[in-house]
Amino acid sequence: MATQHIGKKTACVVGGSGFVASLLVKLLLEKGYAVNTTVRNPENQKKISHLIALQDLGDLKIFGADLTDGGSFDAPIAGCDLVFHLATPVNFASEDPENDMIKPAILGVHNVLKACVKAKAVKRVILTSSAAAVSINELNGTDLVMDESHWTDVEFLSTAKPPTWGYPASKTLAEKAAWKFAEENNIDLITVIPTLMAGPPLTPDIPSSVGLAMSLITGNEFLINALKGMQMLSGSISIAHVEDVCRAQIFVAEKESASGRYICCAANTSVPELAKFLNKRYPQYQVPTDFGGFPSKAKLTLSSEKLIKEGFSFKYGIEDVYDQSVDYFKAKGLLKN
Ligand SMILES: NC(=O)c1ccc[n+]([C@@H]2O[C@H](COP(=O)([O-])OP(=O)(O)OC[C@H]3O[C@@H](n4cnc5c(N)ncnc54)[C@H](OP(=O)(O)O)[C@@H]3O)[C@@H](O)[C@H]2O)c1
Ligand SMILES: *[C@@H]1O[C@H](CO)[C@@H](O)[C@H](O)[C@H]1NC(C)=O
Ligand SMILES: *[C@@H]1O[C@H](CO)[C@@H](O)[C@H](O)[C@H]1NC(C)=O
Ligand SMILES: *[C@@H]1O[C@H](CO)[C@@H](O)[C@H](O)[C@H]1NC(C)=O
Repeated sequence: MATQHIGKKTACVVGGSGFVASLLVKLLLEKGYAVNTTVRNPENQKKISHLIALQDLGDLKIFGADLTDGGSFDAPIAGCDLVFHLATPVNFASEDPENDMIKPAILGVHNVLKACVKAKAVKRVILTSSAAAVSINELNGTDLVMDESHWTDVEFLSTAKPPTWGYPASKTLAEKAAWKFAEENNIDLITVIPTLMAGPPLTPDIPSSVGLAMSLITGNEFLINALKGMQMLSGSISIAHVEDVCRAQIFVAEKESASGRYICCAANTSVPELAKFLNKRYPQYQVPTDFGGFPSKAKLTLSSEKLIKEGFSFKYGIEDVYDQSVDYFKAKGLLKN
């Protein structure tokens, strides 16, 4: 019978336990995809409880794989049409970014892409890059518009070594390595470039990016300073809802005409502007709005024009990102009323 085996759409999500990847797995299952996902330690049932729960939604298999272990991606990627690569080593406090982040991120890209070449069935690979691979440079100004033609200045990062420099360097070099490998091996690669993400997670722990985005509301001084550092280094505070970023990943994966890099940014702002917005929207949290001489305006904005022209529409604005993140913090008992 011709109808016996209607080919199910298949996808592999590399790094499935993470904040973004676990939601991507959920959306793929809801769209009827059969999904293979990888985590470093499938035995750690507590850390992957949210993935195990997703197995009720559809065909989801969980594999063990490490970015630094070449063969570990062969089995999960075999038989998949689409591969989403989200895993990346994150260690902002690292004293050895070269070995903790840069080398394993690049090695991971090579290992995942090699498995895609071997698998033969893979039609498209979607790599999650970062605005940190686009916007870090020594340019001066307040009206710079960054698009997909811009790349972070790695030479500046590795010479000046500003705090947390290893993460943006690793993201930039990993994305560049992916483009080079894809070109040499005829892989249909697309990169999605998200800004700071927030919104309710599926993960048992609070994702660090949600904690960072919420810092002005929770009053966590350490994280507020990190947010200021982010504005100074990356040029702005740019935010997107995690679900929109996952939707954008599936959108570019399925859209035949899509190619190249896609910035995914829902709102451009700065720490002082964001604080004003939050203070007004949630007066009960008394968000401070006086930042002394700290730059009130961002140096640059990130444009999602290419993604929107391709036909994507954002579901959530900054109001939704924060309303939902506040509700999530309340549900976790981290905020009152
Ligand atoms: N969150 C943001 O605001 C943001 C913004 C821009 C870009 N991004 C990008 O989006 C992607 C997902 O970020 P996220 O916030 O969801 O991160 P996350 O929650 O910290 O997840 C990171 C994932 O990477 C995996 N990983 C780390 N080292 C690994 C290794 N050596 N081998 C295999 N897996 C490894 C972890 O796997 P295990 O749990 O199995 O250890 C984890 O699932 C990343 O590529 C990140 O750079 C995130
Ligand atoms: C998952 O991995 C298995 C084992 O390699 C493979 O048979 C299957 O086609 C893969 N894809 C999906 C979506 O199940
Ligand atoms: C930006 O401004 C600083 C300080 O005024 C200056 O040293 C630097 O050369 C400028 N950068 C560029 C690219 O013009
Ligand atoms: C962010 O900045 C870009 C470039 O200036 C602009 O196209 C876009 O509309 C801005 N996004 C928002 C939500 O303001």
